[in-house]
Amino acid sequence: MIIENNKSLIRFNSFGFDVSAEHYTAVENIADLHDAICWTLEHKKPCLILGGGSNIVFTRNVEGLVIHMALKGVDITEQGKTATVRVAAGENWHKLVEKTLSRGLFGLENLALIPGQAGAAPIQNIGAYGIEVCQRLSSVEVYDTQDRCERTLPAAECDFAYRHSLFKTPAGRRYIVTAINLILSTVDAPDVTYRALIDNLAKKNIVTPSARQVFDTVCDIRTQKLPDPAVIGNAGSFFKNPVIKRQLFDTLKTNYPDLPGFPEDTGRIKVPAAWLIDRAGWKGQRSDRVGVHRAQALVLVNHGGGNGQQIAMLADKIQQDILQRYGVHLEREPMLY
Ligand code: EPU
Repeated sequence: MIIENNKSLIRFNSFGFDVSAEHYTAVENIADLHDAICWTLEHKKPCLILGGGSNIVFTRNVEGLVIHMALKGVDITEQGKTATVRVAAGENWHKLVEKTLSRGLFGLENLALIPGQAGAAPIQNIGAYGIEVCQRLSSVEVYDTQDRCERTLPAAECDFAYRHSLFKTPAGRRYIVTAINLILSTVDAPDVTYRALIDNLAKKNIVTPSARQVFDTVCDIRTQKLPDPAVIGNAGSFFKNPVIKRQLFDTLKTNYPDLPGFPEDTGRIKVPAAWLIDRAGWKGQRSDRVGVHRAQALVLVNHGGGNGQQIAMLADKIQQDILQRYGVHLEREPMLY
């Protein structure tokens, strides 16, 4: 295990904030991870587990040890019409989507171009264009920092919900995701239920799309709407879409008749945070060196030279304004450090 001191994290967070880690190590296997955890206990230092850094806002330098998950490997086992795919936590998510698709394994095509690593996918239960990763997961392999051993948690025990899992709760903090196990299909029958996906396929006159066509279309939509973190620093959607009471939705509808709403099984209504932020006039606004993206109001961006405190302040202002205007509380999606 190699530990570096005062390591810049600029390349390890998609906002591109120039903070440093007091100590840093990249782990390539479970033994290294075990040693890194033991090191933090021995030295009485906190630790921060970092994947692709695409869902974190650094507002300061990191104390203790940053453990970068660099475990690699994709193992595919086909059985008839399905395949199980074991993916180590350090694999790049989008490359995995491309790889499985080109092997004729379907089910991840709607999740194309999501930044980050495979190990982070179950933590916030990544989702896009009608699919959430929990629908494809059979289990999650973890390192249990409390008992210092490996475990495999069946998906049903991971408490998955919209942008939520066990791993985000106090009970799940003891676990570090080391690999995910997916079940994919050899049958090319993509899920085409999301409005924006249907509309974009229709524009191309595609009636019965293949998984490859869904993949290409998702890539087109994302490229148009979402900034590439390599060009403009960002962490994707900054807020979750709020789920509100029917009564509040009905009241809002009288003032804003074109407010979209998607009923949940619970009777509550999910509304697009992007719509609320956009109609409140925030889209394209700048504050210091950060701002709200001009093509997608849900994405906060670093225009270059910005920092995490500026992002946190902008997010606070937006949250307060949305609460005042609509009576809706927006919940932040990325972790603030
Ligand atoms: N809208 C606006 N203004 C905008 C953008 C969108 O009014 O600037 C409206 C649209 O007209 C539409 C609605 O908001 O009625 C929904 O927009 P969109 O389909 O773009 O989806 P979203 O709710 O903004 C969510 C996810 C994205 C995911 C897309 C596609 C969350 C927090 N975000 O965005 O996820 O890619 O759906 O499924 O659920 C991410 O998590 O980082 C992310 C990008």
